[in-house]
Amino acid sequence: MSNCRDPTRGLEWKVADAIAYQQNAGAFRSGITTDEAMAYYSQYCHQYEESLRPGRYNGPRIAADAVARYYPRDREQKKIIDIAAGTGFVAENLTVQGFRHIDALEPSTSMLVRAKEKGLYETLYENMLTEEHLPIAADTYDCAVVCGGFGEGHIPCSGLKELLRITKPGGVICNVMREEYLVNVEEYRECLEPLMNSLEKAGKWTLVSRDVVPNYFIDLPGIVFMYKVN
Ligand SMILES: C[S@@+](CC[C@H](N)C(=O)[O-])C[C@H]1O[C@@H](n2cnc3c(N)ncnc32)[C@H](O)[C@@H]1O
Repeated sequence: MSNCRDPTRGLEWKVADAIAYQQNAGAFRSGITTDEAMAYYSQYCHQYEESLRPGRYNGPRIAADAVARYYPRDREQKKIIDIAAGTGFVAENLTVQGFRHIDALEPSTSMLVRAKEKGLYETLYENMLTEEHLPIAADTYDCAVVCGGFGEGHIPCSGLKELLRITKPGGVICNVMREEYLVNVEEYRECLEPLMNSLEKAGKWTLVSRDVVPNYFIDLPGIVFMYKVN
């Protein structure tokens, strides 16, 4: 396959990777509103799984591996919610790891339709994670996992509050995202990690691990945050 050069990154990528990068960039473009992101996903859903296939987009495997490392035993008894579930990539990977009770939360109807078809989720919530109260009881889940849900126009910093509310004390919140978004996304720069740190200082949760991982998306690094809820 021929190569092309992305002038903004100075890296050589295969053409197919460059196309996938551009398609994904449309969902996370600077200044995108939530409504615009939802409209984008209603089209993107048709190419999403081929474009973001494993090997190119490794976030879902990275997320499931992190959750599986945290729960080496009794995985079939753990109740997990996959936040920003998209088409269900994370559930596919969690199922391989032996998890059996997985719910989904995903605001895009088109993405959720594909997730539902896979038959891997018990309950599917067509909701957006924001500061708004979700239709989910407090302390429901052993684990809330988010993969690729934090980015421009996606989950706001204020969504952390609901993640904490729906996860049981002693449970874990796993957030896997593109590392550069911590600083490139204006809303997160001053807010996301500082808020995570202040929630820890306030005793709401305790950091288990913070790992930068290679090849999260193509050759771009991701970051995996694991917090235990207090
Ligand atoms: C890049 S996709 C990731 C999907 C899936 N987790 C994966 O790794 O393939 C981002 C998803 O976040 C969803 N999303 C956007 N804003 C959201 C919000 N505020 N709360 C929950 N999900 C959101 C989008 O609809 C989209 O399906």
